Amino acid sequence: MGDKTELLDFSAIWEQIMPKVDRMIAQIGDKSPHVAGADGKYDDKRIDWWTSGFWPGILWIMHDMTGDDRYKEVAWHWDERLERFMLEPNHFDHDVGFHFLPTAVIKHKVTRDEDAVRRGLFAANFMAGRFNLNGGFIRAWNGDHQSGWSIVDTAMNLALLFWATKESGDPRFGQIAEAHADTVVRAFIRDDGSVNHIVSFDPETGEVLESLGGQGAAPDSGWSRGTAWALYGMTIAYRYTGKTAYLHAAQRVAHYFIAHLPEDHVPHWDFRADGRLDDEPRDSSAGACAASGLIELSMLLTEKTGRVYRDAAERILQSLYRDYGTWDDAGHEAILRHGTGHKPAGQNVDVSLIYGDYFFVEAIAKLKGWKHRIF
Ligand code: GLY
Repeated sequence: MGDKTELLDFSAIWEQIMPKVDRMIAQIGDKSPHVAGADGKYDDKRIDWWTSGFWPGILWIMHDMTGDDRYKEVAWHWDERLERFMLEPNHFDHDVGFHFLPTAVIKHKVTRDEDAVRRGLFAANFMAGRFNLNGGFIRAWNGDHQSGWSIVDTAMNLALLFWATKESGDPRFGQIAEAHADTVVRAFIRDDGSVNHIVSFDPETGEVLESLGGQGAAPDSGWSRGTAWALYGMTIAYRYTGKTAYLHAAQRVAHYFIAHLPEDHVPHWDFRADGRLDDEPRDSSAGACAASGLIELSMLLTEKTGRVYRDAAERILQSLYRDYGTWDDAGHEAILRHGTGHKPAGQNVDVSLIYGDYFFVEAIAKLKGWKHRIF
Protein backbone atom coordinates (compact mmCIF):
# COMPACT_ATOMS: atom_id res chain seq x y z
CA MET A 1 0.00 0.00 0.00
CA GLY A 2 1.18 3.51 -0.75
CA ASP A 3 3.04 5.35 1.95
CA LYS A 4 2.66 9.12 2.03
CA THR A 5 6.04 9.62 3.64
CA GLU A 6 8.00 7.82 0.93
CA LEU A 7 9.60 10.29 -1.48
CA LEU A 8 9.13 9.77 -5.19
CA ASP A 9 12.53 9.09 -6.74
CA PHE A 10 11.50 10.04 -10.26
CA SER A 11 15.07 9.86 -11.58
CA ALA A 12 15.24 6.20 -10.53
CA ILE A 13 11.90 5.57 -12.25
CA TRP A 14 13.18 7.27 -15.39
CA GLU A 15 16.21 4.94 -15.35
CA GLN A 16 13.77 2.00 -15.46
CA ILE A 17 11.61 3.54 -18.18
CA MET A 18 14.48 3.88 -20.65
CA PRO A 19 15.42 0.16 -20.97
CA LYS A 20 11.70 -0.71 -20.80
CA VAL A 21 10.87 1.46 -23.82
CA ASP A 22 13.94 0.10 -25.64
CA ARG A 23 12.53 -3.42 -25.24
CA MET A 24 9.06 -2.21 -26.27
CA ILE A 25 10.47 -0.95 -29.58
CA ALA A 26 11.50 -4.48 -30.50
CA GLN A 27 8.36 -6.06 -29.04
CA ILE A 28 5.79 -3.68 -30.52
CA GLY A 29 7.38 -3.26 -33.96
CA ASP A 30 4.84 -1.77 -36.37
CA LYS A 31 1.83 -2.55 -34.20
CA SER A 32 -0.63 0.15 -33.18
CA PRO A 33 -1.07 -0.95 -29.57
CA HIS A 34 -4.12 -0.46 -27.38
CA VAL A 35 -4.54 -3.33 -24.89
CA ALA A 36 -2.27 -6.01 -23.45
CA GLY A 37 -3.98 -8.78 -21.50
CA ALA A 38 -2.64 -11.47 -19.18
CA ASP A 39 -0.14 -12.70 -21.80
CA GLY A 40 1.51 -9.27 -21.80
CA LYS A 41 1.30 -8.90 -25.59
CA TYR A 42 -0.08 -5.70 -27.06
CA ASP A 43 -2.78 -6.02 -29.71
CA ASP A 44 -2.64 -4.23 -33.08
CA LYS A 45 -5.56 -1.86 -33.74
CA ARG A 46 -6.56 0.03 -36.87
CA ILE A 47 -4.72 3.32 -36.99
CA ASP A 48 -7.97 5.31 -36.80
CA TRP A 49 -8.72 3.76 -33.38
CA TRP A 50 -8.42 6.54 -30.80
CA THR A 51 -5.32 5.16 -29.09
CA SER A 52 -2.87 5.04 -32.02
CA GLY A 53 -1.03 8.25 -31.07
CA PHE A 54 0.11 7.15 -27.63
CA TRP A 55 2.92 4.74 -28.56
CA PRO A 56 4.59 7.23 -30.93
CA GLY A 57 3.97 9.87 -28.26
CA ILE A 58 6.07 7.85 -25.79
CA LEU A 59 8.82 7.59 -28.42
CA TRP A 60 8.82 11.34 -29.13
CA ILE A 61 9.10 12.14 -25.41
CA MET A 62 11.99 9.68 -25.12
CA HIS A 63 13.72 11.32 -28.08
CA ASP A 64 13.12 14.80 -26.73
CA MET A 65 14.43 13.87 -23.29
CA THR A 66 17.48 11.89 -24.40
CA GLY A 67 18.38 13.25 -27.86
CA ASP A 68 18.66 9.61 -28.97
CA ASP A 69 17.68 9.41 -32.66
CA ARG A 70 16.59 5.76 -32.43
CA TYR A 71 13.32 6.89 -30.84
CA LYS A 72 12.81 9.56 -33.50
CA GLU A 73 13.35 7.08 -36.32
CA VAL A 74 10.62 4.74 -35.01
CA ALA A 75 8.20 7.62 -34.32
CA TRP A 76 8.82 9.56 -37.52
CA HIS A 77 6.28 7.99 -39.89
CA TRP A 78 3.24 7.89 -37.62
CA ASP A 79 1.76 11.25 -38.61
CA GLU A 80 2.23 10.37 -42.29
CA ARG A 81 0.43 7.04 -41.75
CA LEU A 82 -2.40 8.86 -39.98
CA GLU A 83 -2.75 11.46 -42.71
CA ARG A 84 -2.87 8.81 -45.45
CA PHE A 85 -5.60 7.00 -43.54
CA MET A 86 -7.62 10.21 -43.24
CA LEU A 87 -7.93 10.23 -47.03
CA GLU A 88 -9.44 6.71 -47.10
CA PRO A 89 -12.80 5.54 -45.66
CA ASN A 90 -12.18 5.79 -41.92
CA HIS A 91 -13.66 6.27 -38.44
CA PHE A 92 -11.82 9.39 -37.27
CA ASP A 93 -13.81 11.53 -34.83
CA HIS A 94 -13.19 14.11 -32.05
CA ASP A 95 -10.17 12.04 -31.00
CA VAL A 96 -8.01 13.48 -33.78
CA GLY A 97 -6.44 15.36 -30.88
CA PHE A 98 -5.28 12.08 -29.33
CA HIS A 99 -4.05 11.02 -32.78
CA PHE A 100 -2.19 14.12 -33.94
CA LEU A 101 -0.95 15.81 -30.74
CA PRO A 102 1.46 12.98 -29.79
CA THR A 103 2.53 12.53 -33.45
CA ALA A 104 2.41 15.56 -35.79
CA VAL A 105 2.32 18.31 -33.15
CA ILE A 106 5.13 16.99 -31.00
CA LYS A 107 7.14 16.10 -34.13
CA HIS A 108 6.89 19.71 -35.25
CA LYS A 109 7.73 21.06 -31.79
CA VAL A 110 10.83 18.88 -31.58
CA THR A 111 12.08 18.87 -35.21
CA ARG A 112 10.32 21.91 -36.81
CA ASP A 113 9.24 19.58 -39.65
CA GLU A 114 6.95 21.57 -41.97
CA ASP A 115 4.86 18.60 -43.10
CA ALA A 116 4.11 17.83 -39.47
CA VAL A 117 2.69 21.30 -38.79
CA ARG A 118 0.56 21.05 -41.93
CA ARG A 119 -0.81 17.69 -40.73
CA GLY A 120 -1.56 19.06 -37.27
CA LEU A 121 -3.51 21.97 -38.78
CA PHE A 122 -5.34 19.59 -41.12
CA ALA A 123 -6.50 17.61 -38.08
CA ALA A 124 -7.48 20.80 -36.23
CA ASN A 125 -9.67 21.83 -39.19
CA PHE A 126 -11.32 18.40 -39.10
CA MET A 127 -12.00 18.78 -35.38
CA ALA A 128 -13.28 22.35 -35.72
CA GLY A 129 -15.71 21.07 -38.37
CA ARG A 130 -17.41 18.96 -35.70
CA PHE A 131 -18.52 22.02 -33.72
CA ASN A 132 -22.25 22.39 -33.08
CA LEU A 133 -22.92 26.13 -32.92
CA ASN A 134 -26.27 26.06 -31.11
CA GLY A 135 -25.11 23.63 -28.44
CA GLY A 136 -21.60 25.02 -28.12
CA PHE A 137 -20.06 21.53 -28.21
CA ILE A 138 -17.81 19.43 -30.40
CA ARG A 139 -19.55 16.31 -31.64
CA ALA A 140 -17.87 13.21 -30.23
CA TRP A 141 -18.70 10.12 -32.28
CA ASN A 142 -20.02 9.37 -35.76
CA GLY A 143 -23.01 7.08 -35.13
CA ASP A 144 -26.36 7.80 -36.79
CA HIS A 145 -28.05 8.84 -33.52
CA GLN A 146 -25.05 10.57 -32.01
CA SER A 147 -25.01 13.95 -33.73
CA GLY A 148 -26.03 15.56 -30.41
CA TRP A 149 -23.63 13.58 -28.22
CA SER A 150 -20.71 15.23 -26.52
CA ILE A 151 -18.32 13.45 -24.14
CA VAL A 152 -16.06 14.63 -21.35
CA ASP A 153 -12.99 13.06 -23.03
CA THR A 154 -13.05 15.85 -25.66
CA ALA A 155 -11.70 18.25 -23.03
CA MET A 156 -8.27 16.68 -23.67
CA ASN A 157 -8.53 17.03 -27.45
CA LEU A 158 -9.11 20.80 -27.11
CA ALA A 159 -5.33 21.10 -26.86
CA LEU A 160 -5.17 20.53 -30.62
CA LEU A 161 -7.40 23.57 -31.28
CA PHE A 162 -5.59 25.82 -28.81
CA TRP A 163 -2.29 24.79 -30.40
CA ALA A 164 -3.66 25.46 -33.92
CA THR A 165 -4.52 29.06 -33.02
CA LYS A 166 -1.11 29.60 -31.47
CA GLU A 167 0.64 28.07 -34.47
CA SER A 168 -1.43 29.68 -37.25
CA GLY A 169 -2.44 32.98 -35.66
CA ASP A 170 -6.05 32.25 -36.65
CA PRO A 171 -8.30 32.73 -33.59
CA ARG A 172 -11.16 30.52 -34.83
CA PHE A 173 -9.71 27.28 -33.45
CA GLY A 174 -9.23 28.72 -29.97
CA GLN A 175 -12.70 30.29 -30.07
CA ILE A 176 -14.24 26.88 -30.71
CA ALA A 177 -12.10 25.31 -27.99
CA GLU A 178 -13.24 27.97 -25.49
CA ALA A 179 -16.89 27.53 -26.44
CA HIS A 180 -16.57 23.79 -25.86
CA ALA A 181 -14.66 24.32 -22.60
CA ASP A 182 -17.46 26.61 -21.40
CA THR A 183 -19.90 23.78 -22.15
CA VAL A 184 -17.76 21.34 -20.13
CA VAL A 185 -18.00 23.70 -17.15
CA ARG A 186 -21.74 24.24 -17.65
CA ALA A 187 -22.98 20.78 -18.60
CA PHE A 188 -20.40 18.17 -17.56
CA ILE A 189 -18.80 19.14 -14.26
CA ARG A 190 -21.13 18.70 -11.30
CA ASP A 191 -21.11 20.83 -8.15
CA ASP A 192 -19.15 18.19 -6.20
CA GLY A 193 -16.43 17.99 -8.91
CA SER A 194 -17.54 14.66 -10.37
CA VAL A 195 -18.39 14.61 -14.09
CA ASN A 196 -20.88 13.28 -16.62
CA HIS A 197 -19.38 11.05 -19.29
CA ILE A 198 -21.89 11.69 -22.10
CA VAL A 199 -24.25 14.65 -22.42
CA SER A 200 -26.89 14.36 -25.11
CA PHE A 201 -27.94 17.69 -26.67
CA ASP A 202 -30.70 18.40 -29.16
CA PRO A 203 -28.45 18.85 -32.21
CA GLU A 204 -30.86 21.44 -33.71
CA THR A 205 -31.60 23.67 -30.72
CA GLY A 206 -28.57 22.86 -28.57
CA GLU A 207 -30.78 22.17 -25.52
CA VAL A 208 -29.41 19.64 -22.99
CA LEU A 209 -31.58 16.50 -23.17
CA GLU A 210 -29.97 14.06 -20.74
CA SER A 211 -26.77 12.68 -19.33
CA LEU A 212 -25.79 9.09 -20.13
CA GLY A 213 -23.62 6.70 -18.14
CA GLY A 214 -21.35 5.73 -21.04
CA GLN A 215 -18.19 4.14 -19.65
CA GLY A 216 -19.20 5.03 -16.09
CA ALA A 217 -21.34 2.88 -13.80
CA ALA A 218 -24.42 5.12 -14.15
CA PRO A 219 -25.47 8.57 -15.48
CA ASP A 220 -24.78 10.10 -12.04
CA SER A 221 -21.70 8.05 -11.12
CA GLY A 222 -18.04 9.09 -11.06
CA TRP A 223 -16.14 7.38 -13.90
CA SER A 224 -12.55 7.88 -12.82
CA ARG A 225 -10.91 8.24 -16.23
CA GLY A 226 -13.54 10.73 -17.32
CA THR A 227 -12.77 12.66 -14.14
CA ALA A 228 -9.08 12.62 -15.08
CA TRP A 229 -9.88 13.84 -18.61
CA ALA A 230 -11.85 16.77 -17.15
CA LEU A 231 -9.17 17.61 -14.59
CA TYR A 232 -6.39 17.66 -17.18
CA GLY A 233 -8.54 19.19 -19.95
CA MET A 234 -9.64 22.14 -17.81
CA THR A 235 -6.04 22.67 -16.75
CA ILE A 236 -5.02 22.87 -20.42
CA ALA A 237 -7.85 25.33 -21.14
CA TYR A 238 -6.64 27.51 -18.26
CA ARG A 239 -3.01 27.34 -19.42
CA TYR A 240 -3.96 28.56 -22.91
CA THR A 241 -6.57 31.17 -21.97
CA GLY A 242 -5.85 32.32 -18.41
CA LYS A 243 -9.62 32.16 -17.69
CA THR A 244 -10.15 31.56 -13.98
CA ALA A 245 -13.41 29.69 -14.62
CA TYR A 246 -11.31 26.87 -16.11
CA LEU A 247 -8.81 26.97 -13.24
CA HIS A 248 -11.59 26.72 -10.68
CA ALA A 249 -13.21 23.90 -12.63
CA ALA A 250 -9.89 22.03 -12.76
CA GLN A 251 -9.41 22.51 -9.02
CA ARG A 252 -12.95 21.36 -8.21
CA VAL A 253 -12.47 18.17 -10.22
CA ALA A 254 -8.99 17.65 -8.78
CA HIS A 255 -10.31 17.87 -5.23
CA TYR A 256 -13.05 15.34 -6.00
CA PHE A 257 -10.50 12.99 -7.61
CA ILE A 258 -7.97 13.23 -4.78
CA ALA A 259 -10.60 12.92 -2.04
CA HIS A 260 -11.96 9.69 -3.55
CA LEU A 261 -8.67 7.84 -3.98
CA PRO A 262 -8.34 4.61 -2.04
CA GLU A 263 -5.54 3.83 0.39
CA ASP A 264 -2.98 3.04 -2.32
CA HIS A 265 -3.85 6.24 -4.28
CA VAL A 266 -4.77 4.45 -7.55
CA PRO A 267 -8.45 4.94 -8.42
CA HIS A 268 -11.11 2.34 -8.86
CA TRP A 269 -12.61 2.49 -12.37
CA ASP A 270 -15.61 4.41 -11.01
CA PHE A 271 -15.63 6.32 -7.72
CA ARG A 272 -19.30 5.50 -7.20
CA ALA A 273 -19.60 1.99 -8.66
CA ASP A 274 -22.41 -0.12 -7.24
CA GLY A 275 -21.61 -2.58 -4.50
CA ARG A 276 -18.45 -2.76 -2.42
CA LEU A 277 -15.89 -0.48 -4.00
CA ASP A 278 -13.08 -2.65 -2.62
CA ASP A 279 -14.17 -5.44 -4.94
CA GLU A 280 -14.15 -3.25 -8.05
CA PRO A 281 -11.17 -3.18 -10.45
CA ARG A 282 -8.72 -0.31 -10.49
CA ASP A 283 -7.94 1.87 -13.46
CA SER A 284 -4.22 2.60 -13.49
CA SER A 285 -4.69 4.69 -16.66
CA ALA A 286 -6.99 7.10 -14.81
CA GLY A 287 -4.33 7.41 -12.12
CA ALA A 288 -1.55 8.10 -14.64
CA CYS A 289 -3.60 10.64 -16.60
CA ALA A 290 -4.71 12.44 -13.45
CA ALA A 291 -1.14 12.49 -12.10
CA SER A 292 0.12 14.20 -15.25
CA GLY A 293 -2.78 16.67 -15.11
CA LEU A 294 -2.14 17.37 -11.42
CA ILE A 295 1.53 18.07 -12.10
CA GLU A 296 0.49 20.46 -14.86
CA LEU A 297 -1.99 22.18 -12.54
CA SER A 298 0.62 22.55 -9.80
CA MET A 299 3.05 24.12 -12.27
CA LEU A 300 0.52 26.84 -13.15
CA LEU A 301 0.16 27.87 -9.50
CA THR A 302 2.47 29.18 -6.82
CA GLU A 303 4.59 26.61 -5.02
CA LYS A 304 2.36 26.91 -1.94
CA THR A 305 -1.00 26.63 -3.73
CA GLY A 306 0.19 23.95 -6.13
CA ARG A 307 1.77 21.73 -3.47
CA VAL A 308 -1.43 19.79 -2.73
CA TYR A 309 -1.73 18.76 -6.39
CA ARG A 310 1.94 17.94 -6.81
CA ASP A 311 1.94 15.81 -3.64
CA ALA A 312 -1.16 13.93 -4.79
CA ALA A 313 0.43 13.29 -8.20
CA GLU A 314 3.61 11.98 -6.59
CA ARG A 315 1.65 9.60 -4.35
CA ILE A 316 -0.22 8.22 -7.36
CA LEU A 317 2.97 7.81 -9.40
CA GLN A 318 4.83 6.17 -6.53
CA SER A 319 2.07 3.61 -6.12
CA LEU A 320 1.82 2.97 -9.87
CA TYR A 321 5.56 2.50 -10.06
CA ARG A 322 5.82 0.19 -7.08
CA ASP A 323 2.70 -1.94 -7.35
CA TYR A 324 1.38 -1.68 -10.91
CA GLY A 325 4.52 -1.70 -13.10
CA THR A 326 5.76 -4.61 -15.20
CA TRP A 327 9.42 -4.08 -14.26
CA ASP A 328 9.63 -7.69 -13.07
CA ASP A 329 8.69 -9.11 -16.48
CA ALA A 330 10.98 -8.23 -19.40
CA GLY A 331 8.66 -10.06 -21.81
CA HIS A 332 5.68 -7.85 -20.91
CA GLU A 333 5.10 -5.27 -23.65
CA ALA A 334 3.36 -2.68 -21.46
CA ILE A 335 4.53 -0.48 -18.59
CA LEU A 336 1.51 -0.57 -16.25
CA ARG A 337 -0.90 -3.34 -15.28
CA HIS A 338 -4.44 -3.07 -13.91
CA GLY A 339 -6.15 -0.63 -16.25
CA THR A 340 -9.85 -0.73 -17.03
CA GLY A 341 -11.12 0.25 -20.48
CA HIS A 342 -14.91 -0.14 -20.55
CA LYS A 343 -16.28 -2.00 -17.53
CA PRO A 344 -20.02 -1.65 -18.32
CA ALA A 345 -19.41 -3.30 -21.71
CA GLY A 346 -17.21 -5.96 -20.09
CA GLN A 347 -14.35 -4.83 -22.32
CA ASN A 348 -10.71 -4.60 -21.30
CA VAL A 349 -11.01 -5.01 -17.55
CA ASP A 350 -7.78 -5.43 -15.55
CA VAL A 351 -5.47 -5.04 -18.53
CA SER A 352 -2.60 -2.83 -19.67
CA LEU A 353 -3.65 0.22 -21.69
CA ILE A 354 -1.26 2.15 -23.92
CA TYR A 355 -2.62 5.52 -22.76
CA GLY A 356 -1.88 4.55 -19.15
CA ASP A 357 1.70 3.89 -20.25
CA TYR A 358 1.83 7.20 -22.15
CA PHE A 359 0.61 9.37 -19.27
CA PHE A 360 2.90 7.59 -16.81
CA VAL A 361 5.92 8.36 -19.01
CA GLU A 362 4.68 11.92 -19.64
CA ALA A 363 4.23 12.58 -15.90
CA ILE A 364 7.68 11.29 -14.98
CA ALA A 365 9.22 13.24 -17.89
CA LYS A 366 7.57 16.44 -16.58
CA LEU A 367 9.09 15.84 -13.16
CA LYS A 368 12.44 15.32 -14.92
CA GLY A 369 12.12 18.74 -16.55
CA TRP A 370 10.51 17.91 -19.92
CA LYS A 371 9.46 21.26 -21.36
CA HIS A 372 7.42 20.61 -24.51
CA ARG A 373 3.72 20.31 -23.90
CA ILE A 374 1.28 18.60 -26.24
CA PHE A 375 -1.63 18.32 -23.82
N1 GLY B 1 -11.53 8.17 -24.60
C1 GLY B 1 -12.04 6.86 -24.36
C2 GLY B 1 -11.69 6.34 -23.03
O1 GLY B 1 -11.23 7.06 -22.17
O2 GLY B 1 -11.86 5.15 -22.85
